[in-house]
Amino acid sequence: MSEQPLLSVRGLTLGIRHKNDSVTTIVDGVDFEVAEGERFGIVGESGSGKSLTLRAIANLLPRGVEVLSGSIDYRGRDLVRMPADGRRRLAGPEIAMIFQEPMTALNPVMKVGEQIAESPRRHLGLGKEEAHRLAVEMMRRTGIPDPARRAHAYPHELSGGLRQRIMIAMALSCSPKLLLCDEPTTALDVTVQHQVLRLLERLCEDTGTALVFVTHDLGVVNQTCRELAVMYAGGIVERGKVKEVFADPRHPYTKGLLDSAPDFDRPDHELVAIPGFPPDVFDRPAGCAFAPRCVYAVDHCLEASPPLEPVLPDREAACFESATIFERTPA
Ligand SMILES: Nc1ncnc2c1ncn2[C@@H]1O[C@H](COP(=O)(O)OP(=O)(O)OP(=O)(O)O)[C@@H](O)[C@H]1O
Ligand SMILES: [Mg+2]
Repeated sequence: MSEQPLLSVRGLTLGIRHKNDSVTTIVDGVDFEVAEGERFGIVGESGSGKSLTLRAIANLLPRGVEVLSGSIDYRGRDLVRMPADGRRRLAGPEIAMIFQEPMTALNPVMKVGEQIAESPRRHLGLGKEEAHRLAVEMMRRTGIPDPARRAHAYPHELSGGLRQRIMIAMALSCSPKLLLCDEPTTALDVTVQHQVLRLLERLCEDTGTALVFVTHDLGVVNQTCRELAVMYAGGIVERGKVKEVFADPRHPYTKGLLDSAPDFDRPDHELVAIPGFPPDVFDRPAGCAFAPRCVYAVDHCLEASPPLEPVLPDREAACFESATIFERTPA
């Protein structure tokens, strides 16, 4: 990783502060770095805190959830402590976000071309015609057929795949340095999903945009990202290069996820589901959050929470037993 990462998330802790001053921690001490132009995936089961982590970076936390501690350094500036107007100025030209369901992010009563043109007009100071030309060009680059005509369409007149391309065109219209994607292709069918992923990758490469990509789908992260963090119950349990983690996981949860996912390179691979369910945020166990589901857990795992520590070159895992387990069971 380069010395000065584009994004450096340190000890990020998110939660809910209740009226009686008690606190429920949802995301607990998350650390990761993203270099310029890097493609970083965050995977994990539903409820592990992927979306909230991403939303904290985008300044889009839902009402009631707040940053309890930690920092989010973006090009040397801490977003958590930055005044609201400073953060608003970053949204668009520096940091953009794409959501799973474009209909919730698109304005239903505004033509899509105008929606794409909005951010370049505001942030790049482009005139109306110039911004419109850029919007059509962005639509063309995202592979939308007949973009000059479609720029005048309303979101409901377009298919799900085209709407997602509009979202990508909007997000990339000011060539942001960082693009945050929350399950951007989950609602699309598999062939369209593949096209949209390739498109995102290509456009980000063209503009040097770094990607933080949240998904529950290991296949998608394998196709799209070079680095990943695996989240479980609000914490990162493993971090490393996608190819290396997939070939040789060092946390029992990562191994469980890989064993329970279809492997297209090995069609005879037997799928084994992880037993049980992740803990409820209001009822997390005292020790390692994964211990109750972990076949390798020993007494100590139920008592203390393991820190994320280096286990291999360029690899970290949060498991007391990692060295013992994975020396005996190499991939
Ligand atoms: N607005 C909210 N108020 C209270 N709790 C919330 C809120 N949003 C999310 N949570 C809780 O925070 C936890 C993490 O949510 P998050 O949306 O980050 O999960 P996720 O990993 O993105 O899951 P999914 O794969 O289902 O999208 C969940 O247990 C959820 O119940
Ligand atoms: Mg989510």
